[in-house]
Amino acid sequence: MKAVTRIAIFASGNGSNAQRIAEHFRDRNLLEISAIYSNNPKAFVLKRAEKLGIPSVLFDRHSFLETTDVLSDLLSRKTDWIVLAGFLWLIPGYLLDAFPNRIINIHPALLPKFGGKGMYGARVHEAVIASGEKESGITIHYVNANYDEGQVIFQANCPVSKDETASSLAEKVHQLEFEYYPKVISDLLLKR
Ligand code: GRF
Repeated sequence: MKAVTRIAIFASGNGSNAQRIAEHFRDRNLLEISAIYSNNPKAFVLKRAEKLGIPSVLFDRHSFLETTDVLSDLLSRKTDWIVLAGFLWLIPGYLLDAFPNRIINIHPALLPKFGGKGMYGARVHEAVIASGEKESGITIHYVNANYDEGQVIFQANCPVSKDETASSLAEKVHQLEFEYYPKVISDLLLKR
């Protein structure tokens, strides 16, 4: 058995979680990032990858859905797990099959509420506030063929205050993500 577990991070946008995860594991020996994958050539996460010295892999919808190029690349980098961090496309069946129960995601609300297609970014926080919820938080879950429906691994909460805005709530939720996502990944992967 190889000693190091290798994680691929998939991200479509800013990549602040991707950076936190990469930094968290940089000085640890048992987990490392194989590459950061993105579908978005303009994603800031690609700049972060460059700065972190982590390879990045860009793909388009055709190669992701109609070919197995991404899978070949993942395997060539000896990837064991896929971590989604703000990745906006559904994961196709061939990747779910190749990484059974080894793909996880973080969602910026307490699933099963406020998830599903189109529920990402500020829309999630706006919906939470509009429905009068007293708390929100994060959900880390396994990925399956539907948006935000896989088995929940971990949740953490934060209060929604009376004068909360989508951006103030996003900030609270991001702090929870930064605090817990690397730790949950570490606990989960090292015990498997
Ligand atoms: C996070 O809020 C995460 O929960 C969601 O997408 C966002 C990504 O943010 N899945 P960032 O790109 O890591 O800054």
